[in-house]
Amino acid sequence: MQIQQNISLKKYNSFGIDASAKYFAPFSSNEELLKLDRDRWPTLRLVLGGGSNILLRGEVDGLVLKNEIRGIDLIREDENYVFIKAGAGENWHQFVLYCLQRNWAGVENLSLIPGSVGAGPMQNIGAYGVELKDVFYELEAFDIRDLKVYNFSLNDCAFGYRESVFKKRYRDRFIILSVTLRLYKKPRFNTSYGAIQEELTRMGVAGLSIQAVSEAVIRIRTSKLPDPSRLGNAGSFFKNPQVTEEKFNELKNVFPGMVGHPGPSGQVKLAAGWMIEQCGWKGFRRGDAGCHEKQALVLVNFGQASGQEIYSLSEEILQSVKARFGVELEREVNIL
Ligand code: EPU
Repeated sequence: MQIQQNISLKKYNSFGIDASAKYFAPFSSNEELLKLDRDRWPTLRLVLGGGSNILLRGEVDGLVLKNEIRGIDLIREDENYVFIKAGAGENWHQFVLYCLQRNWAGVENLSLIPGSVGAGPMQNIGAYGVELKDVFYELEAFDIRDLKVYNFSLNDCAFGYRESVFKKRYRDRFIILSVTLRLYKKPRFNTSYGAIQEELTRMGVAGLSIQAVSEAVIRIRTSKLPDPSRLGNAGSFFKNPQVTEEKFNELKNVFPGMVGHPGPSGQVKLAAGWMIEQCGWKGFRRGDAGCHEKQALVLVNFGQASGQEIYSLSEEILQSVKARFGVELEREVNIL
């Protein structure tokens, strides 16, 4: 493993923040990790995949590893399923396309999510009615404490809404090496998320296919979400807060336009984008930090914004939503 010094991370984070890492090393196998000098592990500050869910607020004074483990393999199949193992460093959307080409179903709703395969379980990526946990089978992760590789089953990962054991209990402890998904040979369509059905109708799709669903999702995403290669961003900056049905009804009484969707276990997920828009932030820009004009949940870097400027803006948004609605937003993006 080649350790480089004082490397700009600008091209490695989708916000396009120009912060540098004191030490930087890409790796493409578990064996390479084992060769790293043991003294280096305590200096590890960050493991990057696609860098699409991170905000760098300053220089990283330590070691940054970049996961470049590749490979997609069909490891097993039965009558109904294929078990597909992918290297954590694979690009997520390229992986989805690979599956679509082979008619392996289950990830079509997750088309065009930026980032790497390894980031999928880290935050249980989700979109348009599907979450990674719905197709997850197992993963392999490297423990930086004992330098051994462990398998994690679906239960072990403790997936929640944009949550997993790797974001909480095992934060900064495991490096995800590979992810195995259990995909369907026969599609189980999930088009219940309103916008998909509308888009399919607009596309004039006759027979439903996973390719058509993927295309609909891509159209919806590109119409609202900025392309990180053109406008720095990390997708939704905040989570949609979950409240009880009772609380939702109370809020709805005071703010009749309040948008909420039933979530797991009777909770209601409030549309944070709606609340942020109501507070007047949509399309806001200060310097190069802003709130996206088409999706208020997405903060953007118009070019030269610092991580601190984006963070300060997020703090103001958080405070104003709290003052107006009494609801506390939680950041989805990892802050460094
Ligand atoms: N809304 C507004 N104003 C806005 C944005 C949204 O009023 O500026 C309202 C919309 O009208 C809609 C509701 O909020 O009624 C929900 O909006 P949308 O369908 O765009 O989805 P979201 O809740 O803002 C979530 C995920 C996205 C995912 C989409 C689709 C989170 C934090 N975000 O966004 O995930 O793509 O649903 O499933 O759960 C991500 O995590 O980075 C991400 C992009």
